[in-house]
Amino acid sequence: MNISWSECLRFIPLLLQLTTVSTLESFEVLGPADPVVAVPGEDVVLPCYLKPNISAMDLSVEWFRVQTKNPLVHLYQDHEDRNENQIPSYRGRTSLFPEELNNGNTSLKVKNVRLSDSGEYKCFVQSAEWYDDYSINVQIKAIGTHPVISNEGYKEGGISLVCESKGWYPQPQVVWMDSEGHNLPAEHTETHRDSMDLFIVRRRVIVQETETNRFTCQVLQRDLKEMKETMTEIPGELHIFSINSSMETRRVRNVICFCIVLICVLIHLYESVSTLMIVL
Ligand SMILES: *[C@@H]1O[C@H](CO)[C@@H](O)[C@H](O)[C@H]1NC(C)=O
Ligand SMILES: *[C@@H]1O[C@H](CO)[C@@H](O)[C@H](O)[C@H]1NC(C)=O
Repeated sequence: MNISWSECLRFIPLLLQLTTVSTLESFEVLGPADPVVAVPGEDVVLPCYLKPNISAMDLSVEWFRVQTKNPLVHLYQDHEDRNENQIPSYRGRTSLFPEELNNGNTSLKVKNVRLSDSGEYKCFVQSAEWYDDYSINVQIKAIGTHPVISNEGYKEGGISLVCESKGWYPQPQVVWMDSEGHNLPAEHTETHRDSMDLFIVRRRVIVQETETNRFTCQVLQRDLKEMKETMTEIPGELHIFSINSSMETRRVRNVICFCIVLICVLIHLYESVSTLMIVL
């Protein structure tokens, strides 16, 4: 094909006109209807795009937090990122997808998600003549470990079992159950936070011997519809041994008590006898 320069130049006004028309166009900013779920320590993409899918290269794309004083999360303007006034906790963790801007895709990537990233965001896109925005809700979700049960041996009233599970967000519940699935009365749940502020939960129960000697610890997060459980079986002999050993200690205690009383009585008797002797 042979296109002369003059022919080519003829197209320039037409091209200019087309670009002007496209920037004059109105557009809608759209995103997901449902909250975006993010996992602490992982990366997350907050989807946002233009409809029609005009290029966003020449537009201003601003991501910010709602209900924050200095809310800037990421700003793209005049063909580059301008993050001088970004919220410090987002420094170095945010980016758009440069190759996607051309397709009207203004999604934001947030790296190494933190708990503080949860909440509402706005994707705000502006041209010289038009703007629109879309709100996106980010929820943090962390599913913890399978519970670990440890046997603390015999304590007053039965065998003491402790259930522990780590790495949850939001805070889960801990339930102890017998082999028939009946809840067992347990101590209150201890909660701690790890270095990433995720929940560590621990709950102790004192159990008596049952027919099966099987007990289950269940850790559940209802909002996330997540549950993890572990079953333990106490060896029967261990249980009996524990009770025996307690009987043993009780017997020893009784013998010691008896001896003390006996000595007291003897001393008293001796003293009474000596006083009598003196009087006589
Ligand atoms: C816009 O969307 C249409 C239809 O999905 C697609 O064919 C076209 O390539 C897209 N345009 C850009 C600039 O990505
Ligand atoms: C926008 O780009 C991201 C990253 O490539 C991609 O995951 C997402 O699906 C894109 N969104 C749309 C609407 O094309």
